[in-house]
Amino acid sequence: MALWGGRFSQGAADATFALSRSVDFDWRLAPYDIRSSLSHLSILESSGLLSKSDAGAIKGALKELGGEVGNGHFLPIASDEDVHSALERGLNEKLGARGGLLRAGRSRNDQVTTDLRLFAIDHMLEIAMLITAMQSALLEKASEYINDSAPGLTHIQHAQPVSFGHELAKHAHAFARDLDRINDWLARTSVSPLGAGALAGSSLPLDPKATAKDLGFNTSFANSIDAVSDRDYVAEALFILSLVGTHLSRIGEEWTLWASTEFAWAKVADAYSTGSSIMPQKKNPDIAELARGKSGRLVGNLVAVMTMLKGLPFAYNRDLQEDKEPLFDSVDTLLVLLPAVTGMIATTDFNREKMSLAAPLGYSLATEIADYLALKKIPFASAHEAAGACVALCESTDRQLDQLTDAELIAIHPGLDSGVRSVLTVHGALSSRTTAGGTAPSLVAAQIEAALAENHSTQKLISHKQASFMEMMSS
Ligand code: ARG
Repeated sequence: MALWGGRFSQGAADATFALSRSVDFDWRLAPYDIRSSLSHLSILESSGLLSKSDAGAIKGALKELGGEVGNGHFLPIASDEDVHSALERGLNEKLGARGGLLRAGRSRNDQVTTDLRLFAIDHMLEIAMLITAMQSALLEKASEYINDSAPGLTHIQHAQPVSFGHELAKHAHAFARDLDRINDWLARTSVSPLGAGALAGSSLPLDPKATAKDLGFNTSFANSIDAVSDRDYVAEALFILSLVGTHLSRIGEEWTLWASTEFAWAKVADAYSTGSSIMPQKKNPDIAELARGKSGRLVGNLVAVMTMLKGLPFAYNRDLQEDKEPLFDSVDTLLVLLPAVTGMIATTDFNREKMSLAAPLGYSLATEIADYLALKKIPFASAHEAAGACVALCESTDRQLDQLTDAELIAIHPGLDSGVRSVLTVHGALSSRTTAGGTAPSLVAAQIEAALAENHSTQKLISHKQASFMEMMSS
């Protein structure tokens, strides 16, 4: 044993450090760590635990360090374990042993989750803003195509004609729910864990409520053990982000399909397409494909954190360090993806003629015949059967529904008088769909207008929250 023991323990020490070191990825928490240190410092000072002159010196050094972190003059070194130890080194380099005074009443356990909450709030707001930009691109684009019909699809088969503006606007509503979720999440995340210490609170005269207020949180923790163990806000954020990714991937799938030669509905702008190194004619919708593809990692990050949390005992365990990279990755993924998809949407042109010519194909007006009879109080089962017979006759004689003669229609069902012709046009079908939320162009215009108004007020709300967050960070 002695033969390899020394070497093993030496090796293990290096390996332990290599494994547990997080500064390579948690360094981006530095600005939040400095800001929460300033809050902690002011409590230490106001409670009389630190003299005015010590507190003043530490505050000056922290601010200076913050500046150096910002301009890249202060960076972690090989021996720094994590962002907290790197910054403590920085402080001690400026103040000597006096720097250590700041540690009173605080543990990395409450510190790290305070920092991560601040990071998460900051970045979820940024992502929310990007979502609203994409939403408005969708709605603006939708408003250009309100009066253009297109085949509405189920099972990727022609179902019923729709207004293409309605088709595009639908995506904005999914994102409205995501924005709603972010707003709900904010309320639950706005709870400061600072003052919980390692897990049991503190015997020092700290004031978690005051620290929370100073950091812009709505409130502070109710249970110190929960405060340092809770990563629900990470899991929830990752769920929201993965759902945003899922919504983007559904857009990606549609755009890819629509841009295919077979569909040829969408013409994606050159600036948002890529070429092939061997096939000169190729123009590929790579942004749409990446939108679809990146949903995998977003869901993966959620699963990683959920799995890490499952069965984890309270309070702090080092497993929790694994909360950061998934969150950072999901945030970074969307910060790059959202603007690209927004640009793609805003610059895509759609082939109105091709879509409207295709709208009645595949007997997509058959439901109109059934509804026409239903309005005459014919039981829907019979109405459905009559419409089906119309389709069968068309299919066997290679015609469209509006090419059936009056005599043929009446023969199929006595209720099918010539009045049915008014609904056997795409225009008639669209304008008759006037139930709330339906595809009648007049309704679609109002829906888009309402969605745009909501989009603007959400945008305002988020930028207001961003401004107060920035103000907090720089105070
Ligand atoms: N780097 C650690 C993390 O991310 C900080 C907390 C360390 N706490 C501890 N008790 N070792 O979770």
